[in-house]
Amino acid sequence: MGVGSGRGKTILFGEHFVVYGLPALAAGISSTTTARVTRTDSPGWTLTDNRPEMPGYKEKKLDEQRVSIENVIRHLGIDLSETGIHIEFGGDLVCASGIGASAANCVALARALSDEFSLGLDDEKVNEAAYEGERGYHGTPSGIDNTASTFGGLVWYVRDLSGGPPTFERLKLARPVHIVIASTGITASTKEVVGDVRAKKEANPEWFDGIVDEYKSLVHSARDALLALDLDRVGKLMDRNHTLLQQLTVSCEELDSLVTTARAHGALGAKLTGTGRGGNMIALVPDERVKQRVAEALTDAGAAAVWLTSFGT
Ligand code: MEV
Repeated sequence: MGVGSGRGKTILFGEHFVVYGLPALAAGISSTTTARVTRTDSPGWTLTDNRPEMPGYKEKKLDEQRVSIENVIRHLGIDLSETGIHIEFGGDLVCASGIGASAANCVALARALSDEFSLGLDDEKVNEAAYEGERGYHGTPSGIDNTASTFGGLVWYVRDLSGGPPTFERLKLARPVHIVIASTGITASTKEVVGDVRAKKEANPEWFDGIVDEYKSLVHSARDALLALDLDRVGKLMDRNHTLLQQLTVSCEELDSLVTTARAHGALGAKLTGTGRGGNMIALVPDERVKQRVAEALTDAGAAAVWLTSFGT
């Protein structure tokens, strides 16, 4: 039997912008998806998906997940024409939009296949295989999700628009930073939302460029503020990033309401994270006490799930 795991992730700055070659900051979280691969006598592959989920998530993503599994197997050159494999997913990462569930699934699978078929994949190669898997979920992933899922920690990521390898840097903070993640419970289609933003960009390039111009300087300030652990500033920049995402039309009432609740209960800043139009929001909090208070307020405000975590070290 081969085993592997992949982390969930949260995007701190730059979802959607990252698709167009702008830098983004993401962090791996401690929850993981695990994969176990066992050999079978029949050709092809079968699947048992035991991952915990937001209701409806796995059903909605099933077709994309199947393409993604095919992509990873093909990319790794594994021949299942004579004998096959059974794949079992599990772990404590609750599948929801915005938490990197698809990337974690691909990373876990690549590692489990490497283990079972003695491929000796290092993290770089795991990341490449997971990227191919992510293409099953949407045609043009930026690669930030699989990178954060593979390497964990805090990642500064820039996609190469000419198709070359991305640049990414692993950043270390002097102490961990506390965050609260809350789910709207709504499963979004990354393919549809990314496609819609692209259509809007093409229809009105001046509008899009105006938003991008502000984001460009914002993300560099965010990096500096994070490295200096100037959390008040990071929070304000997250708030502003949320406004830019609203302008891109990827927020929704449910996300805005959770963001407002978090800010009202002591979060230093809050924004949607990931695809948007559902999925998750993330709130930056100064300490454990405020973390608990914000988490309770988000639950009372109707969040479908709330996670307390940290990143940076
Ligand atoms: C999804 O987690 C993040 C997006 O920026 C898409 C991508 O980066 O591929 C919306």
